[in-house]
Amino acid sequence: MTHRRQFLKYLAASPLLANFSAFAQEVEETLGERLTDPGEVINVFEMEALAREKLPPAHFGYLATGVDSDETIRANRAGFSRFQIKPRRLVDVSDVDTSIDLLGIEAGSPIILCPVGSQGAYHAEAELGSARAAAAKGHHMILSTQSSTSVEAVAEARGAPIWHQLYATNRWENTVQMLQRAEAAGCAAVCLTIDLPGGRNTETQARMTRSDTRDCTVCHTGQLKPMFDGLDMRGASLNNPAMTWEVIGRMKEVTDMKVIIKGVEVAFDAAMAVQSGADGIVVSNHGGRATETGRGTIECLPEVVAAVNGRIPIVIDGGFRRGADVFKALALGAAAVGIGRPYCFGLGAFGQAGVERVLDLLNRELLIAMRGSGTVDIESIGPDYVHDLGQRA
Ligand SMILES: Cc1cc2nc3c(=O)[nH]c(=O)nc-3n(C[C@H](O)[C@H](O)[C@H](O)COP(=O)(O)O)c2cc1C
Repeated sequence: MTHRRQFLKYLAASPLLANFSAFAQEVEETLGERLTDPGEVINVFEMEALAREKLPPAHFGYLATGVDSDETIRANRAGFSRFQIKPRRLVDVSDVDTSIDLLGIEAGSPIILCPVGSQGAYHAEAELGSARAAAAKGHHMILSTQSSTSVEAVAEARGAPIWHQLYATNRWENTVQMLQRAEAAGCAAVCLTIDLPGGRNTETQARMTRSDTRDCTVCHTGQLKPMFDGLDMRGASLNNPAMTWEVIGRMKEVTDMKVIIKGVEVAFDAAMAVQSGADGIVVSNHGGRATETGRGTIECLPEVVAAVNGRIPIVIDGGFRRGADVFKALALGAAAVGIGRPYCFGLGAFGQAGVERVLDLLNRELLIAMRGSGTVDIESIGPDYVHDLGQRA
């Protein structure tokens, strides 16, 4: 065992594994033998380690991967250290309210479940497990185009209006049909993802898939993505490389849903989104899975907030693993914070119960950060509560 710990310490120091935050936390490899109840898991990093133990390598690889050298994944985490929390004392924090109203969506927490595709790869409950956990804990959720479960079933399981994430394919008639389907299912907004116009290089996934000895063709049969049912996808690509800002206006002509733009990282695009009629922005680099920018989303947030200047709400995602991370983003001007991998670690480890545990852990940490900083509700967390150390070297 001592040797194993030493080996894990060696691995933790290795740049090769720096994106596996579980190792950086010195989480033991055999955690799963001891932690059989989600209630015993004490943070998101342990949940990640459990998911890694339980999932087939190819499926965990899909969840964990970034692009190229996973530099942007690391930047998403490293970016938080640029900002420090400035707490205020002797404020009555006996009653702290974490609820939000985001474009008419009321939720008990500012933490949103972001769209993550193919959740059937993590647990048989798939998106239904996530939606039920979101409902049980009062969280808003965004469903992926690439879901393993239909938007109708997920909307019903959530029991409140969700947002639908859209990959506008290169056939406009497909886009229109997906918008109509999401709207008919009761979705309040469509969240158009704009950060994948031209493919990506997911090497961590490729490496882990190579180590998976199972025969994938046994499960990967037929159409696994219900949102594409009835669409003519022959020769169609998931993303449209010709898409430009006018797409927002075109979408608004065919849907009454609000239009949110996901994947904005710079002030120029934030201004373009507002000018083009977007109702909201998600500052996102797809969890380090799109363009290898090397820039964390929390580092992008201040310029986007300045460009938007309060005209539309800003959601941010990428690397949020602690309540304190969420607090920093709210202080910098985000209206809400999205998580992708963390709740899927919970899903992979325990199904719905694991997702609920992840949400409980993050909500508890956020509550502690709010109480500890003297903030009684989300609106009161402003720029005075955060110190910016400036650009990272
Ligand atoms: C396995 C996986 C699948 C994803 N699928 C989608 C998707 O279908 N559509 C989308 O807009 N974003 C997708 N994302 C990005 C997430 O919505 C979110 O931006 C990202 O996961 C946030 O970073 P985090 O995982 O560090 O929390 C995916 C992310 C992961 C990890």
